[in-house]
Amino acid sequence: MSVSAGAFEAADPTLSQSVKNGLEEVEARLREVVVSAHPMLTATATHLAEAGGKRFRPLLALLAAQLGDPEAPGVVDAAVVVELTHLASLYHDDVMDEADVRRGAPSANARWSNTVAILTGDYLFARASDLTAGLGTEATRLQSRTFARLVEGQIAETAGPAEGQDPVEHHLEVLSDKTGALISTSARLGAMMAGAPAADVETVTRFGEVIGLAFQLSDDLIDVRSETGESGKTPGTDLREGIRTLPVLLVLSGTGEGSDDARLRSLLEGDLTDDARLAEALQLLRAHPAMDAAADRLSRSLDEARSVVAELPPGPARDALHGLTDYVLARTG
Ligand code: IPE
Ligand code: IPE
Ligand code: MG
Ligand code: MG
Repeated sequence: MSVSAGAFEAADPTLSQSVKNGLEEVEARLREVVVSAHPMLTATATHLAEAGGKRFRPLLALLAAQLGDPEAPGVVDAAVVVELTHLASLYHDDVMDEADVRRGAPSANARWSNTVAILTGDYLFARASDLTAGLGTEATRLQSRTFARLVEGQIAETAGPAEGQDPVEHHLEVLSDKTGALISTSARLGAMMAGAPAADVETVTRFGEVIGLAFQLSDDLIDVRSETGESGKTPGTDLREGIRTLPVLLVLSGTGEGSDDARLRSLLEGDLTDDARLAEALQLLRAHPAMDAAADRLSRSLDEARSVVAELPPGPARDALHGLTDYVLARTG
């Protein structure tokens, strides 16, 4: 399976064509629904959609819709809603993370300002809500609760673990909330709008939750491993912002006593906004066994996702959803 904006290939040709057509409709609709009476807002709101992006959430919605009638009204809008919600969260996330690059382009905060990025994110959330209202009360409630969970995840990441809470456990909860929630909802909304059997809707919802966690674990490994430019984002952003992702938490909780280990820990416990310290920390972390341990955790999540997918009825839709687990693994490198 190959996945990227506008390019999707699965084993079954009929499914491939149907999903490709759906993705094209999603692109057109995404641009259409963000047009504002204010030309500057139209420009800022189309900026990231036009810069690129994998469209993982719309793709998942369209694949899950293959469990019912993928042509049913509301399927394309379901896919648009989840991408708009995601986009909005990216505008805000880049303000919070002080990120300058997104999807290989300047982030909205870097290109305009924090004010513009925050307002554009708000506007995209509003547009997503409007579109969701057309999908019915259940979809509206689902989208609102998902957005609430995403925000709870972001705030929990900012707040850190409670007194006495295991940092790794806290971290995994954060990932499920900030990322798993919307990915799970992408699958659920797609299947729901397609009128898929109730049991399958529940199964893809669980699948989305687990692959969503894996997706964020993978993204956090890519933040450490990737070379400048490759991911469309600046590597080391999590470290610079003091966000302790899984490999960092594992280094800090580990018992390694080598001199490199002690140096890495002291770097991770200190200020990493200094470029030289950040570069040294990244280099030591890349070579540290904690990276393999974090990759093992990712691999366990992908195994779990595969076992959930196996509960679906056999067929091209199940195979294509299974293919997403290989995609997440391949992307991590
Ligand atoms: C980035 O999401 C934020 C995470 C939850 C990791 P994606 O990796 O899906 O970003 P785009 O949409 O391709 O830019
Ligand atoms: C993104 O988390 C999650 C949301 C946008 C809700 P990150 O901060 O880890 O994502 P990137 O690395 O900026 O894409
Ligand atoms: Mg970020
Ligand atoms: Mg963030």
